[in-house]
Amino acid sequence: MNEARALPCLETLSDHDREEEPTGAPFFLPGEPSRLYNRPKPRLKLEIRNVAKTFASAKGLIRALNNINLAVQEGEFACILGPSGCGKSTLLHLIAGLELPDHGEIRLYSSQAKKDSNAERLIIFQEAALFPWLTVLENVLFGLRLQKLGAKESKERAMRFLALVKLENFANCFIHELSGGMKQRVALARALVLDPELLLMDEPFAALDFQTREKLQRELEEIWRRTKKTIIFVTHNVEEAITLGDRVILFSGQPGTVKQEYALPPSRPRQKESPFFTELAAEIKRDFQVQDPGRELVEQVTG
Ligand SMILES: Nc1ncnc2c1ncn2[C@@H]1O[C@H](COP(=O)(O)OP(=O)(O)OP(=O)(O)O)[C@@H](O)[C@H]1O
Ligand SMILES: [Mg+2]
Repeated sequence: MNEARALPCLETLSDHDREEEPTGAPFFLPGEPSRLYNRPKPRLKLEIRNVAKTFASAKGLIRALNNINLAVQEGEFACILGPSGCGKSTLLHLIAGLELPDHGEIRLYSSQAKKDSNAERLIIFQEAALFPWLTVLENVLFGLRLQKLGAKESKERAMRFLALVKLENFANCFIHELSGGMKQRVALARALVLDPELLLMDEPFAALDFQTREKLQRELEEIWRRTKKTIIFVTHNVEEAITLGDRVILFSGQPGTVKQEYALPPSRPRQKESPFFTELAAEIKRDFQVQDPGRELVEQVTG
């Protein structure tokens, strides 16, 4: 997990800077048929406009991303799917402010009064980047050092987030004593404890076995439901994207561009055996292969 400071071309705007947004359609709440509620307004969290990124390498220039346009709503779980080398990690690095785009702009809309937080967009990588010389609790406390909290309050807060990821009984363990899945849960707690505006997850479960991966998917979905965080989640795995995403965004091969978006219905948990799930998975895999016939079929979560 890295912390990213806002860079000059990555604007962070607060609520009052937002442009006018349409009010959502009214809907009925179950069990209360006589009352009509307004669906909360979808609020824009992140806007990416015409972003391009080129790298210089020994082989010459590599155009990693081309003309990326994306909007992510507050509280949305957006999954990015695409072939290897299409620029998924590059896009997360740009959003996090770890790299600068050559062209275009990235706007993060903040819901917090404080605009200069160094923890507004946090990345969790495939290999949880934890400090092995610190305990689980100390790893989670690490990012809180810069916040003006007392020791007791920091510890209580860290323990609350360890409980959220079901690791409260492992607080005093060292990192080498944990399984891969537990390490990713520590990384998640360490990110969430800082209350980021945006959580960027770069194939966080790719190195895990199938069962651990499915378990963590369920846990992440529950944590997302409870914390209402905005998440951008990169994966190679079609089933994982359909399980977790409100929307699946399919990238084309290099240079990466948005090829197709699939909006998913809000009902959860998603049933892998349902006709909807299997048909959508087949459709996305077809679209995936059309653009990248040379690449092995997307990793099978059920394989
Ligand atoms: N710092 C860098 N310097 C030079 N080239 C880079 C750099 N970072 C990424 N690239 C190149 O940009 C392209 C996109 O890389 P990126 O890591 O974003 O792809 P990806 O979609 O995340 O791939 P994967 O699914 O394998 O993780 C690749 O061709 C890569 O070699
Ligand atoms: Mg990558």
